Amino acid sequence: MNSSKTAGLSSVVAGSTAICTVGKQGVGLSYRGYAIEDLAEQASFEEVAYLLLYGELPNQQQLEHYKTRLLAYRVLPEALKQILEKLPKTSHPMDVLRTACSALGCLEPESEFTQQQQIADRLLAIFPGALLYWYHFHQHGTRIEVETEETSLAGHFLHLLKGKSPSSLEQKVMDMSLTLYAEHEFNASTFAARVAASTLSDMYSAITAAIGTLRGPLHGGANEAAMTLIQLFSSVDEVEVKLTAMLARKEKIMGFGHRVYKNADPRSPIIKKCSQELAHKTHDEAIFAISEKIETCMWQQKKLFPNLDFYSASAYYFMNIPIALYTPIFVCSRITGWAAHVFEQRENNALIRPSADYTGPAMRSFATIEQRPE
Ligand code: COA
Repeated sequence: MNSSKTAGLSSVVAGSTAICTVGKQGVGLSYRGYAIEDLAEQASFEEVAYLLLYGELPNQQQLEHYKTRLLAYRVLPEALKQILEKLPKTSHPMDVLRTACSALGCLEPESEFTQQQQIADRLLAIFPGALLYWYHFHQHGTRIEVETEETSLAGHFLHLLKGKSPSSLEQKVMDMSLTLYAEHEFNASTFAARVAASTLSDMYSAITAAIGTLRGPLHGGANEAAMTLIQLFSSVDEVEVKLTAMLARKEKIMGFGHRVYKNADPRSPIIKKCSQELAHKTHDEAIFAISEKIETCMWQQKKLFPNLDFYSASAYYFMNIPIALYTPIFVCSRITGWAAHVFEQRENNALIRPSADYTGPAMRSFATIEQRPE
């Protein structure tokens, strides 16, 4: 195999899945046969989570039971609270979530694969509380109550962050954002989870590997990096000159481009509309205008389009979410897709262990330490 053709496995079909299609003709993105546009606009995130984890959309009764179950799973074990308190204030929140996931694997281990569904729901329910318990303890010196009466994960997250119920617009945007982030086929973090699962390791190890993989700026970390980029410009007028200079220096513009999509990311217009609504509501139109200008310049100069991360960044910004929590929000959603892939991998498992083209020295005689050059 020619390694330049397979750099980053870009042209390799690495398995099959019944969970999601990305970039297939006619439909940009679908979860279990449903178009992302329909799911984002007409289903709640909990319905989407159920669809991914249980295979079908829930009926009314199933949804109510599911939401009640998730509410009960929000409790943080005392031992986990203590671990979160001991982590440094300066930790990146992604490292905190990765550690929380791994620690829960010690506190509530998966002893049999029959527990996988329950563990996936537990992680889905507990991540916002674990993250925001650590956040408030270290930022404000308070030990927050991690159980709210918000029945949606979107509302729960924002309530824990801000200490009060979000507005209906904020709740709607957060809910849609969670749906958009929930699943994306064989992306890097999902693939990492599947590799771990393929060794017959436990669910927590697979999800911990996925969180560590999502953290990088070429993957989930791009939403944080995109906000840092947008904040480099103080006005629309600055965008063209500065951006052109960045591109001339071959800098990557975070939140643009995609490995699979070639002309557009179908999730981007949905989150862009949300960001625009929030900009209007908060009277903070400058950031949105700068973002649009970046989008126009990137298309004119590089034919590159915004991916989901780009307008997610400004949407979160308008909701006053600290930038370091952007990628962790991605985790709170993508746990559904990751877990669905672990289930699927286990159903028909084969160890994932590819081969490599060897590029090192030819076979040679061993030299003892005395024979080696100084
Ligand atoms: N800004 C500037 N140039 C970009 C770019 C970006 N965001 N994305 C791709 N390019 C350019 C590359 O520099 C390269 O140019 P070259 O051929 O002149 O060297 C070309 O487009 C191909 O890029 P490459 O990184 O090899 O393609 P890929 O398929 O591996 O990239 C990404 C996919 C997502 C890694 C890439 O687009 C990227 O780094 N984007 C920014 C990070 C990001 O937003 N990640 C979230 C993805 S959802």
